[in-house]
Amino acid sequence: MIRLFSHLQSSVGKKMGLAMTGLGLVVFVVFHMLGNLQLFEGPHALNGYAAFLRDMPIVLWGVRIGLLSMAAVHIGLALQLSMRNRRARPVEYTIHRYRRASIASRTMAISGMALLLFVGFHLLHLTAGVIDPGFADRRDPEGYRDVYGKVVHAFQNPFMVVLYLAGQLGLGLHLSHAIASSVQTMGFEHAALNRLLKAFGPMIGLIVVLGNVAIILAVFLGIVR
Ligand code: HEM
Repeated sequence: MIRLFSHLQSSVGKKMGLAMTGLGLVVFVVFHMLGNLQLFEGPHALNGYAAFLRDMPIVLWGVRIGLLSMAAVHIGLALQLSMRNRRARPVEYTIHRYRRASIASRTMAISGMALLLFVGFHLLHLTAGVIDPGFADRRDPEGYRDVYGKVVHAFQNPFMVVLYLAGQLGLGLHLSHAIASSVQTMGFEHAALNRLLKAFGPMIGLIVVLGNVAIILAVFLGIVR
């Protein structure tokens, strides 16, 4: 334990911690999108799936505590690393040369903050039911919590559609750099693997964003009602 903490004090250890917690959060985001796609199968499928998850409180709370811890460590390490980088280079360069850096890699801090704001809003909206509480505790005719009704109600509102689409932009930008760079940080360096990651990392991000955008637009356009 003491060795783990002293390893986390070094820049390499912090980067490893950032990469591992980031990849853990990516796994959640992929499974969350796949679960939410059950909206296209109708209320029975989505509400039954949500009830199935809630019926296992130990698993549910284990996942929630795991997610919260990973997010806290991820954000804490990202802040420490960016402060350490600034301290190491106190005078800003007058000419910025971003020859090989992509837009996504240069905007990781901004997309990360946008994502944090989005997740905070999303939890208050669809999990806690603090924002737009009318649908928070509704039941469907089978007696399940009406998660389907809640999502459909949300994306019939253009304001929510704009907010959620903006959240997807932050998510897409963040993931398109994060996945490949995390795997490399963890020491998997090989010319062929690097090429593969450069293609697959952004592709995973794109698939997650497309799945989420499909849900938002399918409701907004009245395809799912
Ligand atoms: C169109 C996109 C999305 C939809 C339709 C959606 C839908 C939902 C719904 C309905 C819930 C509440 C489930 C319930 O009450 O049983 C939820 C919870 C949650 N969502 Fe999303 N979500 C979306 C995108 C995201 C994204 C991009 C993230 C993270 C980056 C995210 C993170 C979470 C988290 C952390 C929870 C709490 C899980 C829990 O209750 O334990 N969601 N989402």
